[in-house]
Amino acid sequence: MTDAAQETIYLKDYRPFAYIVDDVHLTFKLADTATRVISRISFRPNTDFPGEFFLHGQDVKLISAKIDGVAVSPNVTPDGLTCDVPDAPFVWEAEVEISPSTNTALEGLYMSGGMYCTQCEAEGFRKITFYPDRPDVMSVFTVRVEGDYPVLLSNGNPVASGEGWAEWHDPWPKPAYLFALVAGNLVAHPSSFTTMSGKDVDLNIYVRPGPDEDKCAFGMEALKRSMKWDEDVYGREYDLDIFNIVAVDDFNMGAMENKGLNIFNSSCVLASPETSTDANFERIEAIIAHEYFHNWTGNRITCRDWFQLCLKEGLTVFRDQQYTGDQGSHAVKRIEDAITLRSRQFREDGGPLAHPVRPESFIEINNFYTITVYEKGAELIGMLKRLVGDAEYYKALDLYFTRHDGDAATIEDWLQVFEDSTGRDLTQFKRWYSQAGTPHVTVTDDFKDGTYTINLKQETSPTPGQDSKQAQVIPIAVGLLSQNGDEVSPTRVLEMTEDSQSFTFEGLAAKPVPSILRDFSAPVILQREQSNTERAFLMAHDTDPFNKWDAGQTLAKNVLIQMITQDAAPDGAFLDGIAAILRDDTLDPAFRALAVSLPSEDDMAQSLHGAGTTPDPLAIHHAVEALRVAMAQHVQDILPRIQAGMTVSGPYSPDAKSAGKRSLGNTVLGLLSRLDGGAAAAKQYDEADNMTMQLAGLAALLKLGKGSAESQAFRTQWRDDRLVMDKWFGLTVSMAAPENAARTAMQLTQEPDFDMKNPNRFRAVFGALAGNSAGFHDASGASYTLLGNWLAKLDAINPQTTARMTAAFETWPRYDADRQSKMRGALETLGATAGLSRDTGEMVGRMLG
Ligand code: ARG
Ligand code: ZN
Repeated sequence: MTDAAQETIYLKDYRPFAYIVDDVHLTFKLADTATRVISRISFRPNTDFPGEFFLHGQDVKLISAKIDGVAVSPNVTPDGLTCDVPDAPFVWEAEVEISPSTNTALEGLYMSGGMYCTQCEAEGFRKITFYPDRPDVMSVFTVRVEGDYPVLLSNGNPVASGEGWAEWHDPWPKPAYLFALVAGNLVAHPSSFTTMSGKDVDLNIYVRPGPDEDKCAFGMEALKRSMKWDEDVYGREYDLDIFNIVAVDDFNMGAMENKGLNIFNSSCVLASPETSTDANFERIEAIIAHEYFHNWTGNRITCRDWFQLCLKEGLTVFRDQQYTGDQGSHAVKRIEDAITLRSRQFREDGGPLAHPVRPESFIEINNFYTITVYEKGAELIGMLKRLVGDAEYYKALDLYFTRHDGDAATIEDWLQVFEDSTGRDLTQFKRWYSQAGTPHVTVTDDFKDGTYTINLKQETSPTPGQDSKQAQVIPIAVGLLSQNGDEVSPTRVLEMTEDSQSFTFEGLAAKPVPSILRDFSAPVILQREQSNTERAFLMAHDTDPFNKWDAGQTLAKNVLIQMITQDAAPDGAFLDGIAAILRDDTLDPAFRALAVSLPSEDDMAQSLHGAGTTPDPLAIHHAVEALRVAMAQHVQDILPRIQAGMTVSGPYSPDAKSAGKRSLGNTVLGLLSRLDGGAAAAKQYDEADNMTMQLAGLAALLKLGKGSAESQAFRTQWRDDRLVMDKWFGLTVSMAAPENAARTAMQLTQEPDFDMKNPNRFRAVFGALAGNSAGFHDASGASYTLLGNWLAKLDAINPQTTARMTAAFETWPRYDADRQSKMRGALETLGATAGLSRDTGEMVGRMLG
C-alpha cells in the first residue's frame, strides 16, 4: 500500500539483546549539517542469549569503526549494521556524521530556533549513532560536547567544562531513549531544592535570551512543588546534583523526561499572566510534575520493551493526576480527567484505532503514544488502588520501587508486585491490559421488603483483531440516596467480575435513588433507563460531586438528543437544574463552571452513534447553540450578579481558587453574550489584564460571529509571541462558523507566520479544524480534503506529527454514507502519497481496515 517498509513487531517475539553494554562514551563535535559523533562502547556477550551483533542506525553516515582499536568494515543497512565481533568483552568505536539542521522530523539530534536539542524516545537515538536502541539495554553514559555555545548540556552531573566544551557523567544506567543533549545561546533561570535527606540540588530552566526569560518562574516553583510532593506522598527522592529543563519551540509532543535534562515544548513550560491562560498554567504544572515523576517511574524503573509503555506512562499520568488534585480540588480534577477520557479515549476505543493499553503488535511505536496507553493506562492504576485500598497501594508501590529499581520491567512484574504485596489474585484484572474497547455496563434494579438489588451486566464490543471479549474486574462505587436527598448508604465499591451480577443492600425503609459509578470508579459506559426527573434529582442532591456533575451531563445529553431527533423544546427540569447550580454559592465555582457546561459536539456525535443514530454534525451544532440560548434566557436575571461575584481582584494568580472564579465568570460571560449581543464580552476584552480574561472575551465575540476588530488588535498586540499567536490561529479556526471553517484554515496557512515545520503552529490550525466538529464535518467535505492534503505535505517533513493528526479521521464509521466515503476518500488519497512514511502508512492502514 505504501512504499515504506511495514514490518510488524510482536510482543511475543521479545528476546533480550545478545550483548551487554557496560559503558558508553560519546563525543559530539557540533556542526549544522555535519555533526560528528564519536562513540566508544564496552560490550560483552550476553551468554544466556547469544546472537548477532546488530546495532540500530538510521540516517547516520559511518565514517569509521574499530573493534579493540583495529579498523573493521561492518555491514551497513538502512536500519543499522552488523559486524563480526570477538566472543569476549570488546570495545567498539565508531565515528559517524549526522545533519541536525536538516532534521525536520524532530527526532534524534535537531535544531530549533538556533539551538541543538534531542528527542530520543522512542527510537530516536539510532539517528544519532549506531547503538542497541532498545529500552532493555541500559548503560552508564559519559558525554563530551564540543561546540561554540555558551551552554552545553547533557544528562547527569557536570564533570568539567572549558571554552567551547563540556563533559557530563550520568551515574545511573539508562536506556538510550533517555539520552539528551542541548547546546545553544541560552540563559538559565536558576534555583535550588534541598531533598528530604538534605542534599542540595541545582535547578535550572533554560530559555533563549529575551522575553522567555520572564516566563520561567512559575515552572520553577511547580518543579519544586513536584519534588516535594514525590517525597511526601511516594517517598521518592531526587538522585543527581542537578536537574535541568530546557524550553524548545519545535517539539513533536509535550515534553520528555531525559535523565536530569528534561526537554519541553516551550508551550508546556513557559508561562506568564499576560500570555498564558489559567488552563495553560494548570497544564504546565501537570506536565512539569509528570516529567519529574518519571525520574522514578520511567527512569529508575524503565520498560523492558515498548509494548510495556503503559508501565511508565499510565503510572506517571496517574501520579500527575493525584498531584494536580492535591494542588486544587480532587472533584474538579476527576471531572476534567473523565471529560478527556470519555471524549478522546472512548472515541479511540470505539473506532478503528482501538488497541489494548498494552498493545501486542505495532509497526511504528510512535503511533502508540496514545490516549489509551496514557489515560486509560492511568485509569487501570486508579482501579487497582480502589480495589486494594490506599494503604495497600502505597505498600505495593514501596515494594515495586525496592524490587525493581534499576530494572527494565514489564506489566507482569508490576502485577506480581501487587499480588505479592496484597495477596490478591490479579489474573482477571490483567485483562484490562490486553482487551481493547470500553465495557458497557447495563444497570437494572428492584426493591422488595427493605432489600434493594442492583443487577449489572457487562459487555464489550469487538475491536480490531479482538472479536470476543471476556468479563473484566470492574470496581463500581455505589451510594444510595433517600427520596428527599439524604444519603442512606454511603459509597460502597461493588466488585464486578462476572458477565452478569447482582448486589444487594439490606434494611432500607424505602426504595432508594442509586448513585452509580461514583467518582468515575471505572472507565466504562454506564447504561441505565432513567427519567429526566431522576437525573435532575441527582443533579440537585447527589453527595458525590462527580455523579452530581455527571447527572447533569447525562441529562443535558438526553435533552439534546430529544431536541435533535424529536425536535423537542429544551427540557424545563434541566433548565431549572442549571439555574439551581448557578445560584448555589456553597458550590466551588470551578465545579459550577463544569456543571453548567454542555457536552461537546463531538461527544454528542459519539453518544448518538452509541445509541444507534447517525449523527448529523450540523444538527448537533444548532441544537447545542439553541440549548445554550435557552439556558441563557432561563437564568438571565441571575447572570450579572454571578458574574460580578466572580471578579478576582488584586494581581493575577493562577491558583485553583482564583482560576475557578474566572472559569465560572467566563462561562457566565458565554451565556450573557447570547443575550447582550457581545457587549459584556467586548468590555471584558478591553479591560483584561491577563490572557485568561482577554482570550475569553475574544472567544465569546468570535462565537457570535463578531469581534473582527478585537481579533485584529489581538493579532497586532501579540504578533511577536509565538505561543500567543498559536492561540490566535487556533481560536480563529475553532470559532469559525461551520461553512467557513475550511476556508478560514486555508487562509491562515497563507499568513506569513504560518510555519508548517513548527508542530505547535500546524496543530494550532489543523488541530482546531479537526476539533471544530460541524466545520470539520461540513457536508461539502472541504475540511476533509484540506486536512488530507496538508497531512500529505507535512508527512514529507515530519512523519510523527502527521501520523498523530491522521486520527482526526478515526470517526468515519459514525457518519452517513456520503461523509463516510469522503472521509475514507481523504484517507485513501493520503495513503497513496508517494514516499509516504511508515508512521502515516500504518495509521491510514489501520483506519481503512
Ligand atoms: N515520555 C514522554 C512523556 O510522556 C513522551 C515522549 C514521546 N515522544 C515520542 N516521540 N513518542 O512524557
Ligand atoms: Zn510520560
